[in-house]
Amino acid sequence: MANDAARPLIVGNWKMNGLRADLPAVMAIDAMAGACAGVDVGLALPFTLIPRCAGMVNHAMLGAQNCHARPGGAFTGEVSGTMLADCGAAFVILGHSERRQGQHEDNAVVQGKVRAAIAAGLSVILCVGESAAERATGQAETAVRRQVLASLPADPPSGRALTIAYEPVWAIGTGVTPDAPAIGAMHGVLRETLLSLGYPAALLPRLLYGGSVNAGNAAAILRIAHVDGALVGNASLEPQSFGAILDQAAGAPTFGL
Ligand code: PGA
Repeated sequence: MANDAARPLIVGNWKMNGLRADLPAVMAIDAMAGACAGVDVGLALPFTLIPRCAGMVNHAMLGAQNCHARPGGAFTGEVSGTMLADCGAAFVILGHSERRQGQHEDNAVVQGKVRAAIAAGLSVILCVGESAAERATGQAETAVRRQVLASLPADPPSGRALTIAYEPVWAIGTGVTPDAPAIGAMHGVLRETLLSLGYPAALLPRLLYGGSVNAGNAAAILRIAHVDGALVGNASLEPQSFGAILDQAAGAPTFGL
């Protein structure tokens, strides 16, 4: 997302949710994004809502949750990054664990998608995160570092076009989150990994935490060192709970519960 790296970034991931009846919720979130000075707000919608919302939304950045690695061609049922940019998306989430697992997307597949999305002019939120088994066997940091290195193209996107979301698989949709030291340690690993790739410290991609972020835990999570924002699933579907998270990112109670 082409924004000041110092600003917090809060992104809602609507997953396979959102019908025309939910357009008022999109508009409510957009209005909150407009009133939330100092916080960048993104909304990753299902493909079907993006063109409809592109003409209505003024403040939130619109994004998608997947794209194909090719710009066009005989790929029945697929949507390319070029198409997303053409219909008003500014960013795309890639490598989400629900796609790595459910759609068998390995790092090589994700890398191809990252390259294509950047070529199409989108910015990318690259998701990484260890499984419960990797955490239990002490391999979490190795697994996450490997995902970052193998999912980024050899010529990685600029720090402005890339955001990394650390989402432990076992924390997504479960109501369970790692403790603050574990999140801080992993964000430190991400930072070192990106520095080792040659990103200048002043222009590192923003690092989001994702996995069961809600109105009750966002403030504490957003205070952890090197956490630049959050990727929010369930709690982004209701404007009130998403607004409460935006409040906490802004440090001011404006919209909340
Ligand atoms: P959750 O989802 O907030 O519902 O855990 C986060 C995500 O999958 O991006």
